[in-house]
Amino acid sequence: MIHSPAERTTRISSALTLEVVARTAALKAEGKPVLSLSVGEPDFDTPPPIREAGKYAIDHGITHYTEGRGTLALRKAISSKIERDQNLSYAPDQIIVSNGGKHVITNFLLAAINPGDEVILPAPYFLAYPELIKLAEGVPVILETEPKNRYLISPEQLQRAITPKTKMIVLVTPNNPSSTTYSKEEIAALAPVILKSNAWVLADEVYEHLLYDGRQQASPAHIPELYERTLYVSSTSKTYAMTGWRLGWGCGPKEIVAAAAKLQSQMTSSPSAIAQHATIEAVSNDQRDREEMRKVFEKRRDLIYSIVSKWPHVEAPKPEGAFYMFPRIDGIWKAAGKPYPGSLKVSMQLLEEKYVATMAGVVFGDDRAIRFSFAASDETIKEACGRIEKYFRDI
Ligand SMILES: Cc1ncc(COP(=O)(O)O)c(C=O)c1O
Repeated sequence: MIHSPAERTTRISSALTLEVVARTAALKAEGKPVLSLSVGEPDFDTPPPIREAGKYAIDHGITHYTEGRGTLALRKAISSKIERDQNLSYAPDQIIVSNGGKHVITNFLLAAINPGDEVILPAPYFLAYPELIKLAEGVPVILETEPKNRYLISPEQLQRAITPKTKMIVLVTPNNPSSTTYSKEEIAALAPVILKSNAWVLADEVYEHLLYDGRQQASPAHIPELYERTLYVSSTSKTYAMTGWRLGWGCGPKEIVAAAAKLQSQMTSSPSAIAQHATIEAVSNDQRDREEMRKVFEKRRDLIYSIVSKWPHVEAPKPEGAFYMFPRIDGIWKAAGKPYPGSLKVSMQLLEEKYVATMAGVVFGDDRAIRFSFAASDETIKEACGRIEKYFRDI
């Protein structure tokens, strides 16, 4: 008899975001007027100079295996980029290049977590985290947050969650799905609590260049005492509209980076040589395209916030970065004296009845909320929000 899939595959669930994308595509194929506020990727194409660099690689034989942790040329380029943009110093041997930020996160979790180790994860969280922590045989310790606190954790809350088994604390800034950010002061306030533990800090900064209202990126790695325990993660996906190229990097102390590189070399040999070559161009060029895209996102943020913040009984912190809004919506049902059906049902009804694709908050660890992505045109945002508003009014 043929065996069933391994137990580890049953411990984790699949990425529901991709299933919504599939259902949205199916409805579109049926000719339905579907509008999408569900996707977690820029709606821009990769800027031309980066595409040209990719084509150059294909045409000039840059198509072979590379060093497992990424080419030295790319790691040097990333090192200079981080120095330039973040004022952080990482030598090439403190850098691993992987197939996207998600792959860097997976590598770091597998390199750092022993079975039973606790990983503190603030909610709402990027939905891959609990599953990847479980895959690494760690135990996710979820910290609930509130929209009135911009969905951020407090030092007291972190202190209460830390135990002798805490191996890692995940801090995502700007966050997906809340799009809120930790300021320098807010990270500094967490630092003494973190320093009382022995935990790593996984600093997921894949949205570091999508910040609004003149904000500057604040990283745990900026705090000298935290630098040695910070595992900094970023990627080309959101910054350079390169989601499909699958290229990300992780930085930290060289021993843990080397451990992650060892795992990667066995699992994937190396990231794509073509994507690596294109990324040298992306991180080294004048960064004008990046800034143009950021400005467009900021305008869309203003637009969607001006609409959603006026909806009655909805709590929605203003997005400070990334391209999401994460309103708490259960108050609408409460005000109508009706039972809240849960975010999955709401999201499915919006898709099937109003043809608007959103993401249910439950997949991000908050069933009272729903995620809208504003990586969409102004027209789509306006029309989709109009349909959603109508759905809410009819409750
Ligand atoms: C917070 C966060 N981290 C990491 C990722 C992974 O991005 P990628 O693997 O495309 O670099 C995402 C993608 O949505 C994200 O939202």
